[in-house]
Amino acid sequence: MHPSRLLTGIKPSGTPHVGNLIGAIRPGLTLTAQREEPAYYFVADYHALTVIQDPGEMTRLIREVAASWLAFGLDPEKDVFYRQSAVPETFELAWVFACVCGKGLMNRAHAYKAAVAENEAKGGSDPDAGISMGLFSYPVLMAADILVVAGTEVPVGQDQKQHVEIARDIAVRFNATFGEGILPIPTPIIGEDTGVLPGIDGRKMSKSYGNVIPLFAPEDQLRKVVYRIKTDSSAPGEPKNPDETLLFQIYRHFGTAEQTAEMRKEYENGIGWKDAKDALFDVLNAALAEPRRRYDELMQDPATLDGILDAGAERARAITKPLLAEVRRAVGI
Ligand code: TRP
Repeated sequence: MHPSRLLTGIKPSGTPHVGNLIGAIRPGLTLTAQREEPAYYFVADYHALTVIQDPGEMTRLIREVAASWLAFGLDPEKDVFYRQSAVPETFELAWVFACVCGKGLMNRAHAYKAAVAENEAKGGSDPDAGISMGLFSYPVLMAADILVVAGTEVPVGQDQKQHVEIARDIAVRFNATFGEGILPIPTPIIGEDTGVLPGIDGRKMSKSYGNVIPLFAPEDQLRKVVYRIKTDSSAPGEPKNPDETLLFQIYRHFGTAEQTAEMRKEYENGIGWKDAKDALFDVLNAALAEPRRRYDELMQDPATLDGILDAGAERARAITKPLLAEVRRAVGI
């Protein structure tokens, strides 16, 4: 029997924003806080290499993502927090998995299929144009991330569910070939849908739309972004439906239950947009001030940040080294 072990990877492909806080960081940390055993969190830097191929940007994003999770309360004494690239057993296991994973399984992976569909839509002659082997075999590396520390539960967004299912298939196939019970069979944990967080223009908050609310911008910049959030032309005194109001959709994630109920009434009573924006800024700033301080501290001290991640990698390797030794034995190498 494999002990229950929660694990998740964070791909450092963009500077974390409020959408990431609500969609991933908060729910992740809430889930792990409920558990006594350490959870495994890692920065999936080699996964990001499929898209980030500028070394300076890569280094910066790895640090930004790591510092963000720490700033919002990931406790590296309790939980195991490391960089994927600092656990070399992952990549050895990925090769072993590549040898038991059918190519057809990869052909059916959503991300690859989407890339092919995009090429076909463009009408080019090569359906695989611009698709690297890294993108194609991304799910194999992800299976290795999970199984190299014998992860059993994997909290992920809906978009990553299929990848965890592929990891299951690979584990089943490996065990059937080389010995039952060697690897655990991981399961995805899909958090309840918190609803898509809109960005300042009303579309989903995403760096590709340039509509994000940054997490760590200085106060005056944060205020400016809040002032840019789209509103309609209704005047102060005119009742507003909070559920159709962007400002309120963001407010409710930051106000307490009481503040949120109070604000709902204010909208119904016709709060003016300027006041509604000031109120949103106040709750946002209150929630972000302390993490911002901690984030700035970590970003100014990369040696400490790297030290935290290296210590995490050592703890992870206490599991990955014996696991790899067993895998090698099992395959006869
Ligand atoms: N692919 C995931 C994402 O894009 C990140 C990730 C990499 C991951 N390895 C993982 C998540 C292992 C869970 C488990 O968000």
